[in-house]
Amino acid sequence: MKFVQKIKRILGISGAKIFETNIEYWEERSKKYGAKAVLNLGLLDKENEIFEIQKQAIIPHLKAALDGTEQTLLDFGCGPGRFSSYLAKVTNCKVIAVDPIQSLLDAAPNQDNISYRLIKDGAIPVANASIDVLWVCLVLGGIKDKEIPSVVKEFKRVLRPGSLVCFVEKTAPVQYAEYWRSRSEEDYIEMFPFLEVEKKGEYMELDSTISIFIGREYFSDFSKTLKISHRV
Ligand SMILES: C[S@@+](CC[C@H](N)C(=O)[O-])C[C@H]1O[C@@H](n2cnc3c(N)ncnc32)[C@H](O)[C@@H]1O
Repeated sequence: MKFVQKIKRILGISGAKIFETNIEYWEERSKKYGAKAVLNLGLLDKENEIFEIQKQAIIPHLKAALDGTEQTLLDFGCGPGRFSSYLAKVTNCKVIAVDPIQSLLDAAPNQDNISYRLIKDGAIPVANASIDVLWVCLVLGGIKDKEIPSVVKEFKRVLRPGSLVCFVEKTAPVQYAEYWRSRSEEDYIEMFPFLEVEKKGEYMELDSTISIFIGREYFSDFSKTLKISHRV
């Protein structure tokens, strides 16, 4: 399947528009679908239902891992802030919600304890070691393997020692999609050498398994070799 699609793309007969970067893809997708661009396109009319499923599957694990000292939560790849306000409520944190797509940030509702900020050139607009909780929901799957090392570096920079992390990403089935990749559970567990995360649960989104990983920063040696293979 992947091979056939690749050949079609090379021959220019796939019919799909090819974007130079993921950012161009998200800009175009947000122009087309507005705030709903962040949803699985097969679930555009089920926004509330999927949000409920996600909350029930993920939030108990996040709450159980909080130790009560957390003050600042980073919602990385927040889109139009679908989770930002709820996260502020359940963690009692000030939320910094960041995304590279300005139109998605513009669609987010204003709230006193949430600061929406634009990611430019991959830089997360927060100070070093300032984040107590990192929340990443369905974002890493949209980032190419070759771009992951700069995300790793930025997470390393912004996380405070011992901070809590929560990743929610598609882990199966592994199938080819131009702008979205399913990685294995091991890929996510090993992606960040300075984090110790474990899978806490999963839920289904149409036919895909979405896995929930929770863990903590443990200040390991960043010079450790990245274990993920860098497929193009
Ligand atoms: C599937 S949406 C998920 C949005 C939000 N986390 C949610 O659950 O509603 C993926 C988001 O990742 C953002 N994104 C794409 N590339 C990114 C990058 N390199 N760094 C951070 N966010 C990125 C997109 O703009 C989009 O808002």
